[in-house]
Amino acid sequence: MTENAPGSVDLGRGLTLPNPVGLASGTAGYGFELEQLIDINRLGALYTKGTTMDARAGNPPPRVAETGGGMLNSIGLQNPGVDSVATTYAPRWTGWSIPIIVNIAGGSVDEYVHCVSVLEPVSEVAGIELNISCPNIAQGLDFGRDPAEAARLVAAVRAVTQRCVIVKLSPNVTDIAAVARAVEDAGADAVSAVNTYIGRKIHRATGRSVLPLGTGGLSGPAIQPLALAAVAAVCAAVHIPVIGVGGIIDAASARDFLIVGACAVQVGTATFVNPETALQVLDGLRVDDY
Ligand SMILES: Cc1cc2nc3c(=O)[nH]c(=O)nc-3n(C[C@H](O)[C@H](O)[C@H](O)COP(=O)(O)O)c2cc1C
Repeated sequence: MTENAPGSVDLGRGLTLPNPVGLASGTAGYGFELEQLIDINRLGALYTKGTTMDARAGNPPPRVAETGGGMLNSIGLQNPGVDSVATTYAPRWTGWSIPIIVNIAGGSVDEYVHCVSVLEPVSEVAGIELNISCPNIAQGLDFGRDPAEAARLVAAVRAVTQRCVIVKLSPNVTDIAAVARAVEDAGADAVSAVNTYIGRKIHRATGRSVLPLGTGGLSGPAIQPLALAAVAAVCAAVHIPVIGVGGIIDAASARDFLIVGACAVQVGTATFVNPETALQVLDGLRVDDY
């Protein structure tokens, strides 16, 4: 890193990221494949795949579809379940210097609380990201769309963890600032914004939706200006740290999020195009960018 390379980011409750550039949830799994391709430990954080109480097989294929300037996904939270993450995956993170932030999803408050409780004694876990914004499972948006429900969930999780709790916000709402304020008031240490936008692609030969569930989540450069507007609204609404995510492809598009008030960023879909993208973003940022 150069002399002017970006420095650490304090997200609260003892979670300090060594630099502001992380890998977005669901686009780097649990890090094990990417670790073989890039120097993952140079990055600021790995936000894991959404992890649930029980293992999930995910949605039927096809689960992804290319769109203009982006992609739709409908993975459906395929993951091995929180017990496997705690007992099988976490030991493999021992010795990694990149902070591991486990992204948690669930269908009820009890499921979220269970997952966070299982991870509480696991020393390799640096923080929790609560996914209240998955558009690809039946109850995925229940907590993310209603400020009161979001606050109820965060308060329950807050009661069972000393760790930094980041809440991942959905852009598929009327007023994202209202949800951000509600989770801040309920005890969230930070928020990340945004998850994917609900989208649909038609198979032109058949006239049917390409994705079996009809819709999926849109990500990639197509959403960057939308995500930027949402992040700016969130930054204006809360006093806790905001992590910007959505359509980042290079240092310039990451810097936009820092300009509107985010303190850190996540790189998602662009990693599929080039696994080095997050490192290139990091190398292109300077300490005076934020
Ligand atoms: C294939 C795929 C899987 C994803 N899985 C998750 C997930 O499990 N939990 C989550 O909070 N976000 C998930 N996301 C959303 C990303 O973390 C990110 O918020 C979104 O893709 C926007 O960023 P991007 O345009 O840089 O990809 C997923 C995105 C993609 C493309």
